[in-house]
Amino acid sequence: MTATSAAARQCPFSNASSEFDPFDMQDPFAFYEWARAEHPVFYSDDIGYHVVTRYSDIKAVFDNWQVFASDNAQAPVRPMCAEGKEIMRQGGFTAYSGLSARVPPDHTRIRKIAQTCFGPRRFKAIEPQIREIVTKAIDAFIDKGKADFFSEFAYDVPALVLFKLVGVPDSDVPRVKSWALSRALLTWANLTDDEQLPHARNMVDYWNYCQALVKARYETPSDDLPGDLVRLKQEGADISDAEIAGLLYSVLFAGHETTTTLMANGVRELLTYRQNWEALVADPSLIPGAVEESLRFSPSIVAWRRRATQDAEIGGVPIPANSNILLIMGSANRDDSVFSEPDRFDIRRTNARNHLSFGYGIHFCLGQQLAKLEFGIALEELTRRLPDMRLKQDQSFDFVRNISFRVPTALHVEWPVG
Ligand code: HEM
Repeated sequence: MTATSAAARQCPFSNASSEFDPFDMQDPFAFYEWARAEHPVFYSDDIGYHVVTRYSDIKAVFDNWQVFASDNAQAPVRPMCAEGKEIMRQGGFTAYSGLSARVPPDHTRIRKIAQTCFGPRRFKAIEPQIREIVTKAIDAFIDKGKADFFSEFAYDVPALVLFKLVGVPDSDVPRVKSWALSRALLTWANLTDDEQLPHARNMVDYWNYCQALVKARYETPSDDLPGDLVRLKQEGADISDAEIAGLLYSVLFAGHETTTTLMANGVRELLTYRQNWEALVADPSLIPGAVEESLRFSPSIVAWRRRATQDAEIGGVPIPANSNILLIMGSANRDDSVFSEPDRFDIRRTNARNHLSFGYGIHFCLGQQLAKLEFGIALEELTRRLPDMRLKQDQSFDFVRNISFRVPTALHVEWPVG
């Protein structure tokens, strides 16, 4: 279907800015389709961002870091209230983004060092541990015949994997998960002043925790991510302790929240469009394609941000210097100029991996191999051990309100036992 005919068929929207609810993750795809056809680049009065919806425009912006910088990528959509700022100041909170909101030359320098610790060697080495974590999680619920897949599998598994890489004990999972949620809500959600305060306290604890991890590696060297970074620094790498702690601050969030989301969204889509699940059960060699199609069709991160460093143009629309820009990758991934029948979930799609769910260009996700490895192993074990898994009937899915992450709050599944 062409974009124009889609607009003519649906036409449920009239004004892009007033129709766009940037925090609504429930089912934004019909709006995206309309926007791609009618207003591919528009200004949202609600958040004060230029919103970009077409694949080619989004890719071009990602690819032009000189004109479109990422330094607003981690800025709170709603600024922190004065009391929250004071809590963070008194707690000594000085964290800055590890990489995603940094710009060259700092970004180039730090990414080069971080990249050596994120190589295939580390990820390959951890593969048996990933399978063990996945197996244990399935063992815990397989005899019950039902589970909330989100809270009983997707929530913990990626955190337990990441913690092996970062060298923190499993017992810290609940704390770090709760800090990561605080970080997500403070940065991408629409909290009132009162709602911000407990999360501001969590940020102080989170930052102190990251700094303590670095300090500990000077006392006891270790074979993990902070251990590697401290060793590289001792060997002469140009990185400060605050920058190492900043990388941990990033990874202890980015390294599991997004993979939790991928697992929950991917399994939900596979079971919704059940012939895809059955195809995987019959032929596990389809799993890599299923992982890519899940990322395309139901991305963990629906939107990401950039700032114009100078007067610019996107898709023929003038963008004044200093403008904030919201790139809707969830829309790019459904653009029919790149993906035929984009609203069809199809694990055999041959170009699914051209999705923009990991960004593009100099900030392209450093952990994408790990995320895909984890979900691939999860699907191998789930399809083998729970081939008859189904979605529980009559459930509706709720998605947390925020501008970037599309994650269901629960996912009830069931299967026959005995
Ligand atoms: C499904 C899982 C994941 C998704 C959807 C995802 C998505 C993204 C996106 C959209 C970006 C920004 C790209 C840009 O600005 O162009 C990013 C950057 C990043 N991701 Fe991921 N990510 C995932 C998993 C991970 C994992 C597992 C790790 C770490 C182990 C990780 C670490 C990072 C880092 C460090 C950056 C910053 C890179 C830079 O700015 O140079 N991510 N990711």
